[in-house]
Amino acid sequence: NAANIPVIAIDGPTASGKGTVAQKVARQLGFHYLDSGALYRLTALSAIRRGIAMNDEHGLAKSAEHLNCHFDGGHIFLANEDVSQAIRAEEVGNTASKIAVLATVRHALYGLQLSFRKAPGLVADGRDMGTVIFPHAPLKVFLTASVEARAQRRYKQLIDKGFPANMEDLSKDLRERDARDMNRASAPLKPAEGAYLLDTSEMTADEAVRQVLSWYAAL
Ligand code: DC
Repeated sequence: NAANIPVIAIDGPTASGKGTVAQKVARQLGFHYLDSGALYRLTALSAIRRGIAMNDEHGLAKSAEHLNCHFDGGHIFLANEDVSQAIRAEEVGNTASKIAVLATVRHALYGLQLSFRKAPGLVADGRDMGTVIFPHAPLKVFLTASVEARAQRRYKQLIDKGFPANMEDLSKDLRERDARDMNRASAPLKPAEGAYLLDTSEMTADEAVRQVLSWYAAL
């Protein structure tokens, strides 16, 4: 019975460090990991490649519904092509944020997200893990960090991956993405009821991981 399998929901804005923290928590506990943002990014990439217009809601929802993806050893595949790097490009992230406002797209990805809940447990990372997808998760965390700290992290990530980056553009993109993710009607980014707030601006990833693990141990 999936309802008895523990879920740790970790939500927060883009570049808040939730991906790193969630993956480390999952590894420590031996839990599965859901990168729900990757599903929106995969949908975006698939739509971009198939030339689906951003105002074609039906076409976008179909892309989400028929997403031919799989996750293997930390790599992400779209129709058997390793797109782990490609989905991290800023263009794909921005497109993901735009199509994520569509309730039909969100609905199409709902069942796929639930299917990640497998024994012995799941760490789910996203925007609406605690509010919509796993509202009964025993532990919900809302990670935040200042725009400056997040722009700095994103800058480093992109440069490390060999993508071009510019701090000013990144800060502007982050603010725009935050506004879109928080102000949309369907599953807006906000702390779930009962979520623990964790501001990681001045924290290392490992400090944040320790805090989440100690909350989990205290349940
Ligand atoms: O976490 P990320 O940057 O990879 O997510 C990319 C976009 O996908 C994000 O800007 C908004 C959307 N998203 C969402 O709407 N709901 C989620 N649970 C995860 C991501």
